[in-house]
Amino acid sequence: MSSSMSRRQFTASSAALSLASLIPSGVFGEASNSRRVVIRANSEIGLVRPEFHGQFSEHLGSCVYGGIWVGKNSSIPNINGYRKEVVDYLRELGVPVLRWPGGCFADDYHWRDGIGPAAQRPKRVNIHWGGYVEDNSFGTHEFIGFCRLIGAEPYLAGNVGSGSPAEMRQWIEYCNYPSGSSLAEERAANGSPEPFRVRYWGVGNESWGCGGAMDPEEYADLFRRFGVYLRACHFGGARPFLVASGPNRNDARWSRGVMDGMRPHMRPDGFSMHYYENGASTPTEFTPETLNAQLSRFADMEQAIVQQRALLNGYDHGDSIGLIVDEWGVWDRMIPEQEKNYGRLWQQSTMRSAVGAALGLNIFNRQADKLFMCNIAQMVNVLQSLLLTDGSEGRHCIRTTTYYAFMLFKPHRSKTAVRVETEDSSPLGLSASASKDDREMIISLVNPRYDLDMNVNCRIEDARLRQATAQILHDADYNACNTFDHPDRITLKDHPVHVTTAELQLDLPRLSVVTIRAARG
Ligand code: AHR
Repeated sequence: MSSSMSRRQFTASSAALSLASLIPSGVFGEASNSRRVVIRANSEIGLVRPEFHGQFSEHLGSCVYGGIWVGKNSSIPNINGYRKEVVDYLRELGVPVLRWPGGCFADDYHWRDGIGPAAQRPKRVNIHWGGYVEDNSFGTHEFIGFCRLIGAEPYLAGNVGSGSPAEMRQWIEYCNYPSGSSLAEERAANGSPEPFRVRYWGVGNESWGCGGAMDPEEYADLFRRFGVYLRACHFGGARPFLVASGPNRNDARWSRGVMDGMRPHMRPDGFSMHYYENGASTPTEFTPETLNAQLSRFADMEQAIVQQRALLNGYDHGDSIGLIVDEWGVWDRMIPEQEKNYGRLWQQSTMRSAVGAALGLNIFNRQADKLFMCNIAQMVNVLQSLLLTDGSEGRHCIRTTTYYAFMLFKPHRSKTAVRVETEDSSPLGLSASASKDDREMIISLVNPRYDLDMNVNCRIEDARLRQATAQILHDADYNACNTFDHPDRITLKDHPVHVTTAELQLDLPRLSVVTIRAARG
């Protein structure tokens, strides 16, 4: 803490500013754009699990078909059918975990439709996402092949809504049983003698909604039943990690109902919460009001994480259940023309979206002790995607602003998150997080204000710094984005940072995300 301000004053001023945040911005005339941050290097929160940077891919719009998968005979450059640029960009980013095949699609998916010779696979109607005919050319083997190519841990979402325990238990055996059973032999005959060793298994998706419109008590009964058969599929050293369908946002009624209906030894390993930050505008037509409203929702997600964690911990051994933010990100109003041309839920990612992504990733660092995994929705061409293509036939593939926001957070992976104090913890205040290992400290700062440039003084307690570099993602226009014509409008740039042994000083322009890598002295 600086000598001119005691700890108590700092906290008191923080409370005062939080109250101030309830009043529309501008009322105080923004007397100062200076912001102070204190990083307590010895106050450890927990491991920044790489899985906080997971992704989600669904048979929806052009996420899988045309996005990830163009087919082996496509004229679009591909590696065994996988779009080459998608593979290259994702490899560079690193995708710790990838969830598939849905979403709503998962509870209408029957895995046997997606194995064996592609030409003989049945054609089904995708009832959730536009009623197109799904030819199942991308199935389990193709998904696992993609995960192997980009280095992601596969996470399969099983069908509870219209499936059975037998169907899902057989899927696990098909994937994980080493050899000798008919299902393992079938996998080998389909080209994969080696088991897939899939660890993560979702037991239904949004069972309160598109996954069966169940009451929590009903879902708890089903989960127990499925669990008996799935848990016993402990094959080849891989014990299935079962993820139960958790709440929509902070729905405590659902979470309590499910948890009350579980017996302690039958509880899930993971609990999947979905938290979308909806927007009232189309992606490139946000206004100050709709922007502030959407970015403020990230604070609600943080509160939901804290409260859902506390709720789970209130149950016997509830603290051993991993809380998973399984679908998150900005969900804007769609543009029908774009959906027609490029696929359902195709959504541009602007500077605003990138700020949103960074607010989310800062939250995951700050709540590292409460979370197990977080998967942004979705990977390519759907909602807050990291990559965009111009439809399933299009040759262009661009990295979105969200891709670059994720890039900025990559150095936090596998480090230890430490506590950070800011003067203003209101939803649109300066957002900060930090992590460390023996060699460096990583600090991420987000300015979510469209109308205020900040300059930031970061004081580091209990660690000495030697040197620092920083990178910034910034555009003063919140509706600016990377397009097929201008794919590199918003990318990472080096950013000046002044460092002394215990302090960092830098500018944080309106709508910017900065990550500082500081070598420890
Ligand atoms: O990500 C799009 C949809 O949002 C998913 O299918 C569903 O799980 C959620 O409602």
